[in-house]
Amino acid sequence: MLYSLEQCQLVDLPKIQDPRGNLTFIEGGHHVPFDIQRVYYLYDVPGGAERGGHAHKELHQLIIAMSGSFDVVLDDGKDKKRVHLNRSYSGLYICPMIWRELDNFSSGSVCMVLASNRYAEDDYYRDYTAFMRARWGA
Ligand code: TYD
Repeated sequence: MLYSLEQCQLVDLPKIQDPRGNLTFIEGGHHVPFDIQRVYYLYDVPGGAERGGHAHKELHQLIIAMSGSFDVVLDDGKDKKRVHLNRSYSGLYICPMIWRELDNFSSGSVCMVLASNRYAEDDYYRDYTAFMRARWGA
């Protein structure tokens, strides 16, 4: 299956509004199109820092700005789109075989990532040329 940039969409998560504070919940296989096997988060990101800079062979992810904001640049090797995340009830789904870069982190921001599998370095393309060759045979 050739995964496409169009599949990488914002997902609205349930939000229970309450004067005592809002609540959002996420159920694997329901609100996200995969079972959640791992959660990790980026925090204490210094101003001007960039994260990501890789693609995954098989991993599905949902990225949420739990606090503050940042941008995710998605790239299928032909087209690119920049998505600004700044809501803790909105997640960006990223399918496999999409190069991503994260930048423009606001001070104190927290980026939470839900992932369909455990960490495996051999699931990464960290070299853009290798990614392009695998994706497009270029
Ligand atoms: P990486 O995925 O390159 O970070 P990002 O894409 O957010 O910039 O991971 C950075 C380092 O952390 C790398 O050495 C692998 C390690 N790591 C784990 O050990 N487990 C994990 O779940 C993740 C995401 C990374």
